[in-house]
Amino acid sequence: MNLVLKIHQSVVACSVLLASPLLAAEDGKQIYQLNCVACHGAMGEGAGAGTFPPLAQSEWLSGTAERSIQILLHGLEGPVDVNGKTYNLAMPPQGALNDAQIAAVLTYVRSHFGNKESAVTTKQVVAARKKSENRSSPWTANALLKEYPFPKQEKVLKDIVMEVYKGKWEMLPDFSQIDPDAVEEEAYGLFSFRNVAQKKQFGVVWQGEIVAPEDAEYCFEMMADDGARLSVAGNEVVSAAASEAKGEWRIGKVKLKKGANPIQLEYYQLDGGVDLQLRWFGPGISRKQLLTDRPKGRRKKPSAPVIDLTPTNKEAALYNNFITGTTSRALGVGYPGGVNTAFSTEHCAPELLWRGKFISGGRHWTGRGQGTENPLSKDVVSLTGGVPYRIAAEEAVNWQDLPKVQYLGYSLDTNRYPTFRYRVGQAEILEKSLPNASGMQRHLKITSDKNAYLAVLLAKSGSEQGSRELLVDKKLRVTSTESIQKGPEGYYTLLPLKKGTNTFTLNYSWD
Ligand code: HEC
Repeated sequence: MNLVLKIHQSVVACSVLLASPLLAAEDGKQIYQLNCVACHGAMGEGAGAGTFPPLAQSEWLSGTAERSIQILLHGLEGPVDVNGKTYNLAMPPQGALNDAQIAAVLTYVRSHFGNKESAVTTKQVVAARKKSENRSSPWTANALLKEYPFPKQEKVLKDIVMEVYKGKWEMLPDFSQIDPDAVEEEAYGLFSFRNVAQKKQFGVVWQGEIVAPEDAEYCFEMMADDGARLSVAGNEVVSAAASEAKGEWRIGKVKLKKGANPIQLEYYQLDGGVDLQLRWFGPGISRKQLLTDRPKGRRKKPSAPVIDLTPTNKEAALYNNFITGTTSRALGVGYPGGVNTAFSTEHCAPELLWRGKFISGGRHWTGRGQGTENPLSKDVVSLTGGVPYRIAAEEAVNWQDLPKVQYLGYSLDTNRYPTFRYRVGQAEILEKSLPNASGMQRHLKITSDKNAYLAVLLAKSGSEQGSRELLVDKKLRVTSTESIQKGPEGYYTLLPLKKGTNTFTLNYSWD
């Protein structure tokens, strides 16, 4: 097996040297048969009579190759729509394949099974690998599409933002008077329930734009078990109420202008299973679904972000969406008492700290949901960017030596304060922050399998106030139980780790 692989690799290397897409595709076929065929089928039809998703004419292979490179590098899990069918499985990262092999196999699948996409080069794979080197978990379809959207022209619905509301309604409420429980950008290009964790007693509002091929009248058909209402271009087009006959299509017409028209779909679910269908047709459009099925099977993780604009007395508010000034994957935490952080789950560190009001979901509610949300404060202190940790055997820290950082998730206590769990090199860290009258304390519980040092970058700049204290932005005092030093990336504290469990506290207080 080893020998086969070796020969195989050298063949791929040759083909890359010759830069012949044809040769690469030939090698790609072998790689496909060794590594993909078990799940995706000999003809890319999806193995197990459709249990696995097809690659034949899959939209996921269309346009930029980077989308599929990323799938091979990091895997894919959770609900994914392929050719109109929802799968909810997991594909493991194809870690056994090197860059040239990934290029070859993707060149092959992109030019077979009815696909007609361009060849993939090793260079593209190298660049994609570099770009996502900090990713430590599989992609979800939604996250992948946010970064690598499908080619534009194929999308009927654009810039969809979805709000989920919790509540028990007998008729459609005025959602604009209620605070949403979760906000999500729906990157798919169709309405869907895939990011709704609730099974019953919830409401959803989707807003976005629908692209009409012509200036003309279009027909919308809706079927709903509870209540639903569709508005397009500012007009209510079709609605359904729970009291009316179920299982009947309701039809409405509206004049649209060529191009993007605003669209809003409201829905509430009282009991039982979700049943909502929506389709449209008209000049340039044959009857087409605007809503995909709810995925079969159970959701793997409640990845729905929570938005809660006003922390109550006891409970922290969590906001899981794009926040200005930190990585695209970050969790905003608004602690009671007006202390707020944005914890980057890419770098595994609080990157922003601010006092006062937390964050608003208003932008996602009224706007198109694009861009990022700003903290509701002018007092935002940006602490670090990039991986702020280094592991050293001795007190001298080599900042070039970047450790592998892996985010492992978070848990919430009864006050909804998160404890983040992540790994830095061989050390596993539990991190929990507790607010106090002047700021917050950051508690680190670090389990190490050997004696070592963990350097924790505290801020990119600031001024030293003695050996264990730092003033950042002239207003935030950071103190450590260990010494604070200046390094090439900024100020850091050096935590001595003993084999076993160690605890440290970092204090952040407003001047
Ligand atoms: C162990 C089974 C398995 C193997 C092996 C596997 N895949 Fe997948 N693949 C899946 C599953 C399952 C999904 C859908 C994941 C989900 O539901 O989120 C998927 C999704 C995909 C997708 C996006 C959806 C689609 O159907 O277009 C692409 C592209 C893809 N795989 C390519 C490949 C290639 C190329 C290989 C070989 C190098 C490969 N896969 C190997 C199981 C596998």
